[in-house]
Amino acid sequence: MAVIAGNWKMHMASDQAIEFLAELDLSGVSERHEILLFPPEIYLAALATSEARNPRVQLGPQNIYWEDEGAFTGELSARMASEVGANFVLIGHSERRHVFGETDEEVAHKVRAAQRHGLVPVVCVGETLEERRANRVEEVILRQLNAVIDDLSLGRALIAYEPVWAIGTGETATPKDASLAHETLRERLSQSLGTERARSVAILYGGSVKPSNAGALLSTANVDGVLVGGASLDPRSFAEIAAAAL
Ligand code: 13P
Repeated sequence: MAVIAGNWKMHMASDQAIEFLAELDLSGVSERHEILLFPPEIYLAALATSEARNPRVQLGPQNIYWEDEGAFTGELSARMASEVGANFVLIGHSERRHVFGETDEEVAHKVRAAQRHGLVPVVCVGETLEERRANRVEEVILRQLNAVIDDLSLGRALIAYEPVWAIGTGETATPKDASLAHETLRERLSQSLGTERARSVAILYGGSVKPSNAGALLSTANVDGVLVGGASLDPRSFAEIAAAAL
C-alpha cells in the first residue's frame, strides 16, 4: 500500500479545484493505494461534498491551530476541518516552519489537536541545504521527529520527509538520500513504538516528485508514498505519479 498525497499550497481557483476532481482519472491506480489532497482550506467543504470527487480521494487542510475555538483571528481548528469533511492534516510543512516560524513545540500541539478530532496528522520533517552541507541531516530530522514521537502512539500518523532544498527547486533527493533519511526515521520510530507499530507509520518522500521520478522513489526501501507539490496541480501528472506506485 502506498500513500499518494498532493499539497496544492496556495494555488488553484475554486472552479479549477472542482475541475481537478472531475478530471482526475484513477482508473490506472491500484485500489490498495491511498490518495490524499491538501487544498487551500477555503475549498475543503466544496471539494468534500462535490459529486465530482472520487470517494478514494481523501482531504485535509495544510495547517491547523491547536485550540478548538476562540479569539484566534485567521486560524482554523482541527474540529472545524473535521466537520467539513477532512480526514487528514499536514502539520509542520517546511514552509510553515521556515516562512512562518513554526516551532517543534507548536507542531506537537497541532499533532495532538488533530488526533483529538480524528484527523490523521501528516507530520513533515526535513533539513535545509545548509544543514545538509554541515552533515546535520540526522540531527535535524530526529529533533523534529522526537518533538512528536510520544504522540504518535496515540493513533494513526504519517511522516513526510521533505528536504527543504528539494522543494519547488526541481532538485530531487536521490533514492539513496531518501532511503537513508527514511531508514533513520524508521529506526527511531521502532525504538519508540516497537517494530510492528513503526512499520505501520507510512513515511512519505516529498520534494520535486514528478511522473519521471515517482517510480524510482516509490520503489525505494522505506519510502511508503510521496507528497507532491507542483506536479499535484495537474490531474494528469498527479494520476501518473499515483499509477507509478506498484
Ligand atoms: P514540490 O513537489 O513542488 O517540490 O513541493 C513539495 C512539497 O513541499 C509538498 O509538500
